[in-house]
Amino acid sequence: MHGFLVEQFGGLEVMQWREIGPFVPGPRQVLVEVRASGVNFAETRMRAGTYSGQELPFVMGMECAGMVAECGEGVTEFRPGDRVFGRARGSHAEAVLFDADHLMPLPEAVSFIEGAAIPVSWLTAWHALDAVADLQEGQRVLIEAIASGVGSAALQIAKWRGCWVAGTASRDPKLEIARQWGADAAYNYKRDDVTVLVRRDTDHQGIDIGLMTIGEETAESLLDSMGMDGKIVMYGSTGGRQVCFNLNIGVRNLALMSMSISTSERFLTYTMPRFRELALPLFADGSFKAPVGPVLPLSDLVRAHQLVDERNHFGKIILTV
Ligand SMILES: NC(=O)c1ccc[n+]([C@@H]2O[C@H](COP(=O)([O-])OP(=O)(O)OC[C@H]3O[C@@H](n4cnc5c(N)ncnc54)[C@H](OP(=O)(O)O)[C@@H]3O)[C@@H](O)[C@H]2O)c1
Repeated sequence: MHGFLVEQFGGLEVMQWREIGPFVPGPRQVLVEVRASGVNFAETRMRAGTYSGQELPFVMGMECAGMVAECGEGVTEFRPGDRVFGRARGSHAEAVLFDADHLMPLPEAVSFIEGAAIPVSWLTAWHALDAVADLQEGQRVLIEAIASGVGSAALQIAKWRGCWVAGTASRDPKLEIARQWGADAAYNYKRDDVTVLVRRDTDHQGIDIGLMTIGEETAESLLDSMGMDGKIVMYGSTGGRQVCFNLNIGVRNLALMSMSISTSERFLTYTMPRFRELALPLFADGSFKAPVGPVLPLSDLVRAHQLVDERNHFGKIILTV
């Protein structure tokens, strides 16, 4: 088996196609033959060595869809030949070992390519909106970087809950695609005064749930866009981590929350079961559809990282085996 191994942090050249394994599934582990894997912003940070807790060496990739090859002891819910998908470190490879608790059956109607676009983005967006923010029907939601994997998933989840949804992006074509996917409003945060437009579009009520992922660059405008009793869920910091804000946010009773699906105890006990129960049937009947951006062969992982830096795509970049 081969995969993209990183033995030292650095630029694109540190991702090396190497022999990996052998893989022997231990208790509650499942060996999956990878058919397609998703590319995430966080991977560019893992490769560079600026992602918290990342150790060397490691195989690139965080999620995939594929076929079960072999099950370890105690795995009763999957069998060799099953179509599956989920989050697993080391997914930019021909095969990867899964923790069975993170593996899900891939609905028949969902392709391997679409399946690879779902796990990280949709579980993060679902956890943020459902478990952390307790999203309610009819709320006003502002999604930063709405063209991102997580942002484009959050858009569909919030629309499904009957919310009014606005999003931001750095480039106009991404705003247009967001509107096509159902956004009620879309703002170019590099050019527009987002707070002024939010006030205009919400009849001066402001935002109930704000998804913060850019951080430093846009924190002030997100805070200013929030309405009474609003909740901000911080899950990313693509635009810098040092945020300074005025404590007068207390006048509006704002709540600032943060999250990581990798470390949250509620992720496995609450979010995963609800996602299996509520979201999987919606993918199966076509109500949810993960936006897929560029699709490249796995051998083009370097190009995929360049595309992340170029920031022109909407949804998830996919690599196929
Ligand atoms: N907390 C968690 O559990 C969790 C889980 C998964 C992901 N995340 C985080 O969520 C964020 C989004 O992840 P993703 O995989 O959905 O991202 P993605 O699809 O690669 O998109 C990243 C977005 O960030 C914006 N951006 C701002 N500054 C950027 C920069 N310097 N380089 C590249 N993009 C930049 C871009 O939108 P514009 O060009 O429109 O600004 C881009 O669409 C990341 O910070 C990731 O680490 C957190």
